[in-house]
Amino acid sequence: MITLALSKGRIFEETMPLLAAAGIEVTEDPEKSRKLILETTRPDVRVVLVRASDVPTYVQYGGADLGVTGLDVLLENGNQGMYQPLDLRIAACRLSVAVRADYDYASAVRQGSRLRVATKYVGLSREFFASKGVHVDLIKLYGSMELAPLTGLADAIVDLVSTGNTLKANHLVEVERIMDISARLVVNQAALKLKREPIRRIIDAFASAIPPAKSPAP
Ligand code: ATP
Ligand code: PRP
Repeated sequence: MITLALSKGRIFEETMPLLAAAGIEVTEDPEKSRKLILETTRPDVRVVLVRASDVPTYVQYGGADLGVTGLDVLLENGNQGMYQPLDLRIAACRLSVAVRADYDYASAVRQGSRLRVATKYVGLSREFFASKGVHVDLIKLYGSMELAPLTGLADAIVDLVSTGNTLKANHLVEVERIMDISARLVVNQAALKLKREPIRRIIDAFASAIPPAKSPAP
């Protein structure tokens, strides 16, 4: 049996075409079912549904043989003990700093002010601001980061941006682009040895179906 860990929503949806390229279809809709283990058209392949941030943990400890997870999750929560053969180029977005449209970020940085930054990505943010020599107090949030500058909780946020619609709807502007993010295939190292052939076939099929690279946004 091959077990693939996915999270519901965009990772699940955007992984489906890759699975189809491997001749695998999930036979149940996760949005309509409460099941956490989904069968596929291949009796030897199943999908387990976990929280996005739990995918690496499942793969690392062998609860799943393979998983699809964002680079943000891998860098923030650890990526050790896993083979990472493919950038799948799905769930593409960027990790950015954003502030209220009326906040002068450039001069706050220039003056050496201490910034209050709210984010789910405390580790990545600490690293980024340290590399710029900017002093920050980091406030850990688990979601709805956009609210923090609007309520006075923080001067800035570090969050994922894709279309920019969420920032725009909340009168925030992107002031720094920290890194580009996309989803990665991760593989348990022991599983790769023990189930080499079937896992290799899935990796090769995924590789053949990766969407073409987009030219970077200006
Ligand atoms: P959790 O449920 O563990 O809190 P989450 O809500 O962040 O996780 P998703 O929103 O499904 O889970 O995001 C999964 C992954 O998709 C993220 O880790 C990131 O790599 C990517 N992602 C997040 N937001 C976007 C977006 N707006 N556009 C494209 N990709 C995104
Ligand atoms: C992500 C991210 C932003 C939004 C950005 O949230 O945290 O809020 O997407 O996308 P945009 O630039 O295209 O508007 P998501 O939709 O995953 O909601 P969640 O974090 O609450 O799951």
